[in-house]
Amino acid sequence: MSRKELDIPCTMKERKLFELVADAAAEQRVPCYVVGGFVRDKLINRNTKDIDIVCIGDGIQLAEAVAKRLDPVPQVNFFKNFGTAQIKWFDVELEFVGARKESYSRNSRNPVVEPGTLEDDQNRRDFTINAMAVSLNEADYGTLIDPFNGVGDLEAKNIQTPLDPNTTFSDDPLRMMRAIRFASQLGYTIAPHTFAAIKENAQRIKIISQERITDELNKIMLSPVPSVGLDLLYKAGILKIIFPQMVDLVGVEMVEGKGHKDNFYHTLQVIDNISRNTRDLWLRWSALLHDIGKPATKRFEEGHGWTFHGHDAVGGKMVPKIFAKLKLPQDAKMRLVRKLVELHLRPISLTKENITDSAIRRLLFDAGDDIEALMMLCEADITSKNKAKVRRHLENFELVRQRLKDVEEKDRIRNWQPPITGEMIMEVFNLPPGRIVGDLKNAIREAILDGVITNNYDDAYKFMLEKAAELNLTPVK
Ligand code: CTP
Repeated sequence: MSRKELDIPCTMKERKLFELVADAAAEQRVPCYVVGGFVRDKLINRNTKDIDIVCIGDGIQLAEAVAKRLDPVPQVNFFKNFGTAQIKWFDVELEFVGARKESYSRNSRNPVVEPGTLEDDQNRRDFTINAMAVSLNEADYGTLIDPFNGVGDLEAKNIQTPLDPNTTFSDDPLRMMRAIRFASQLGYTIAPHTFAAIKENAQRIKIISQERITDELNKIMLSPVPSVGLDLLYKAGILKIIFPQMVDLVGVEMVEGKGHKDNFYHTLQVIDNISRNTRDLWLRWSALLHDIGKPATKRFEEGHGWTFHGHDAVGGKMVPKIFAKLKLPQDAKMRLVRKLVELHLRPISLTKENITDSAIRRLLFDAGDDIEALMMLCEADITSKNKAKVRRHLENFELVRQRLKDVEEKDRIRNWQPPITGEMIMEVFNLPPGRIVGDLKNAIREAILDGVITNNYDDAYKFMLEKAAELNLTPVK
């Protein structure tokens, strides 16, 4: 049967897929619709692979009928309790659900589900731009059903709820973060009454699981200009609940007429800066956390002004705790963020005059393969409004980069291990593992990094014997 074109732009493959779903649904006499994010994304030309199908009937049965018509026949994964089913077919993910009328209990996100009409289903969705459907039924195949003028809101770049926002957010408080996330991802504005309701309901975010909160936070972090979402989270009062350490950065304190910069807005600018150069989530996290140790180290020193001594080390120590609380990974990604936070002041200190090769070597040794990421963070950290100052800093960093390159070419320090290992020391002096072995090993490493001896086995061995003699150790072989 030939059908009319869809009201949303789709690829040939998607059109074929929808015809197949329509055939399966017609056979079962179950009305069905494409709905939600897929319709939204197609209308704004955004890449999308997840297709949600809502039907007035049993979603699992429809999914099974669709799967049988596909080649190769995919597996149907279903969740009986929720009445949902998923099919993964090549790179497309199809999700089927029966239309629902839902009411939520106040203390959980788990709704009491009752079958409903398409209208019920659209009413219970989060935003007008997410509540549009396209019919896959014979009578009006391909027609866009848009009861809340979602198209108008897409054009106006406006985010608002279909129902009273207090109802929508109270039903599912995660939607408050979703509103902010869409604003940040799409560059849209949240309608004033919708934003007012987010502020009012902010406390309700507490019933949402940490995993879901962090998932939204990461989506905000990965959006083109993350400060949009982060600032909205702050202004809505949500950031204080989910990430209080960030809110501690807010504000300027004045003593004797001297203020410091607002470290919250400085931090937001650093994330935006780094986001222009990388989509790597963990580099963006390092930007978010680079000054997190500032509130704890803030002092006013008479005659000198505000200082934040040691905020790099204190901030570094905070990273594992913050990652644990936010249920972010505790693995190499966390260690990278911690390392970048700890080292973020080092390249700046190398922009001074008369910097020795040994200081450069030390940074290469400490940063290892993450030196490029560290330089990217430091460049993003320049947020002065004074253009000449910014230019001067960037030029200085260029010089540091050149020195790093020269020293690395000469000394190959980045992935370097000292030529004498702990095992060798134990063997030469017949020592058990312990502090003395560690001290000797460190002394050799420091001597090479400081340029006291050159980086080769013979010089290092000679140096080891000298140091050992000071400790009254004699070699046994
Ligand atoms: N939805 C909702 N409330 C939620 C989550 C989802 O009303 N808390 C509805 C919306 O209609 C949404 C659809 O379910 O469009 C699909 O949700 P999901 O796949 O999570 O989000 P998308 O809108 O597709 O966006 P993204 O894939 O970027 O998360």
